[in-house]
Amino acid sequence: MTKTQPTKHKAVAFFLSVLAAFAFPTVVAMTAPVAHAEEDDGRPKIVVPRRGGREIFSEHCVLCHKYDGRGGPSEGGWGADLRQTALTRDQLIVIITYGREPKGMPPFKDLLEAEKIETLATFILDDLRLPELKNN
Ligand code: HEC
Repeated sequence: MTKTQPTKHKAVAFFLSVLAAFAFPTVVAMTAPVAHAEEDDGRPKIVVPRRGGREIFSEHCVLCHKYDGRGGPSEGGWGADLRQTALTRDQLIVIITYGREPKGMPPFKDLLEAEKIETLATFILDDLRLPELKNN
């Protein structure tokens, strides 16, 4: 009796630890996706694209707006100086999407996905705009 008792305890302890080892991850696995779904549902999805605009800008815009955005004489007309634009991010998105064709600014809605146009708007405001104009 006195010999088997510790062994029994060990066996029970072992059984419990095995149970815990399997049960805990299973419970976590079962509850985790639900918790994530609730988190995602409860929060507004805010996508603020940053960086990455340079490549798109180089590919589609430098021809008329030049590398630093200064613009000038171009194929389409007088390319606007994007370093000094007074437009808001939303207004930039509208112009890039629909263009100003009579003035020589082409629409990009068929060439670039909305997300890339948003990235460009952020790039213009954050990276091209002159530092002294950044607080307006
Ligand atoms: C074919 C030449 C051409 C290309 C390519 C071009 N633009 Fe323009 N863009 C213009 C011209 C010309 C204007 C000036 C329109 C005006 O005078 O209202 C302009 C105006 C703009 C404006 C308005 C700025 C303001 O403050 O009024 C934005 C923003 C702009 N372009 C962004 C872009 C972006 C971003 C790209 C690349 C995806 C691009 N443009 C490609 C010619 C071009």
